[in-house]
Amino acid sequence: MSSLACIVTWSQELACEVLKPGDLAVDLTAGKGRDTLALARAVGHCGQVVSFDKQAVALERTCELLQDHGYPVNNWANDREIPPGSQIVLVHACHSSLGKMLQRRPKAIMANLGYLPGGDHALITSPESTLPALTQSLGLLSVGGRLAVTIYPAHPGGTKEAHLVDDLFFSLPREMWLVLLLRVANRYEAPYLLVAERLR
Ligand SMILES: C[S@@+](CC[C@H](N)C(=O)[O-])C[C@H]1O[C@@H](n2cnc3c(N)ncnc32)[C@H](O)[C@@H]1O
Repeated sequence: MSSLACIVTWSQELACEVLKPGDLAVDLTAGKGRDTLALARAVGHCGQVVSFDKQAVALERTCELLQDHGYPVNNWANDREIPPGSQIVLVHACHSSLGKMLQRRPKAIMANLGYLPGGDHALITSPESTLPALTQSLGLLSVGGRLAVTIYPAHPGGTKEAHLVDDLFFSLPREMWLVLLLRVANRYEAPYLLVAERLR
């Protein structure tokens, strides 16, 4: 695939661009851990990344990848506030519990929707939890922070989710948010990226 259409790479670059060492970042869909790893590199060893997934197998993959790259990983098994300190925190829960778990405002939040690559294609993100998680994320972001969402419009259920996420991002007030849409213009089925940056 041409690097032009590698939306996941654009997503990581645009989310990580606003991060500096010591920041808090969130991955709403840990999956195989590639986004979590990119965020971990950007916040450095004094920062923190909190990563959610509802599938244990995804968190195992993420844990392996992060440990292979020398990052200490902690698992968080309840829905109480996560204390600062641990660098990578893996949360086995639906991302819609995000709002009650963070003690400070994140600077970047990523969500890569759809199913775990190589996993069960029936276990996809769904608007019932995606929309609350994204709405909470917008409320939590610090000024200058970004929410980057990769959307897959072509798989079963993906079209409805894509329309609802579009509605949320396109309706954000322009005084408070700058919203970028990045997509392959002549491939309607290709994944695309929405990034919202908080202006104030
Ligand atoms: C496309 S994958 C994420 C890829 C990942 N960001 C990476 O870098 O490898 C989507 C993931 O979302 C997870 N997921 C689906 N619904 C979820 C929910 N409600 N809460 C948390 N994770 C969810 C799936 O289990 C799957 O692992």
